[in-house]
Amino acid sequence: MAERIRSYEITPESAWLSRRAVLGAGVAGLAAWPSHALSQDWLGQRGFAPGAPIADEAETPFEYASAYNNFYEFGSDKDDPARHAHEMTVDPWTVEVSGEVAKPGKIGIEDLLGGIDLEERIYRLRCVEAWSMVIPWIGFPVKKLIERFEPTGAAKYVAFETLVRPSEMRGQRSFFSSIDWPYVEGLRLDEAYHPLAIFAVGMYGKVLPNQNGAPLRLVVPWKYGFKSIKSIVGIRLTRRQPPTTWNLLQAREYGFYANVNPAVDHPRWSQKTERRLPSSLFAPNRIDTKPFNGYEEVAPLYAGMDLRKHF
Ligand code: MTE
Repeated sequence: MAERIRSYEITPESAWLSRRAVLGAGVAGLAAWPSHALSQDWLGQRGFAPGAPIADEAETPFEYASAYNNFYEFGSDKDDPARHAHEMTVDPWTVEVSGEVAKPGKIGIEDLLGGIDLEERIYRLRCVEAWSMVIPWIGFPVKKLIERFEPTGAAKYVAFETLVRPSEMRGQRSFFSSIDWPYVEGLRLDEAYHPLAIFAVGMYGKVLPNQNGAPLRLVVPWKYGFKSIKSIVGIRLTRRQPPTTWNLLQAREYGFYANVNPAVDHPRWSQKTERRLPSSLFAPNRIDTKPFNGYEEVAPLYAGMDLRKHF
């Protein structure tokens, strides 16, 4: 992993994603790092929180992370998003921030991200369907953006909403889809403010492919993948727990919290292990799933809660 430790210019695929990426890789490979300037304090000052070491976990090749996706707006097969997401226009893009904030507003993505430093974070993504990947995201803490809109004291949750544009999203035109669009997700405000929770605008040093949720998606590495809502157009601060798409569809199978938990099986399959991609019939690459996907520093957020009940 030591080769990962580098600072680099993000290729200017898009004019607004031209800021110099802040060097960083979570604590990936800390033990393997050379002992010069890069100390834990140095990382801490740059907003990195310790995570479980992932030094021996290989990054999932970009070809998998951008071709094996869930993005039901483009269909329900894993290859549908890569085939059809180019039909979505992501420029111009506006995001509306509303609800319990002193400064609500609808704002273009370039302005929304103005002055925000981007960082690289290598995170495990554990899907509820029991496969996982390791992805180097380019993004920034959720808190940095939300704070700008000055949440009021009454704000307790954050609700996120994806684009609705059936003309460009064939899944939204589909007769067979049972999802009530828009795709919506939510977090408790203290979860959203945890330094591990990020908005991503890129991955693998590139701007986010449409199928991965361009131009702005959530990444919450200690929760099942479905919490990481893609192509966000709405952020609403609320007093009450907001509805979430999978919970609305099947409350018994998908809870609001959706923390990765090997001790709580999905009603139809075990969550004790996961298939790390790339995997095949002959090399299944099956590994044990860890509580909170290995990011145990988030455990204090749930102190005193019964995580079997609040699954
Ligand atoms: N966001 C939207 N808008 N629509 C979706 O269908 N699927 C979720 C999540 N975000 C989804 C979404 C699910 S189920 C998963 S596992 C992750 O996106 C997959 O992210 P990836 O395709 O980048 O790996």
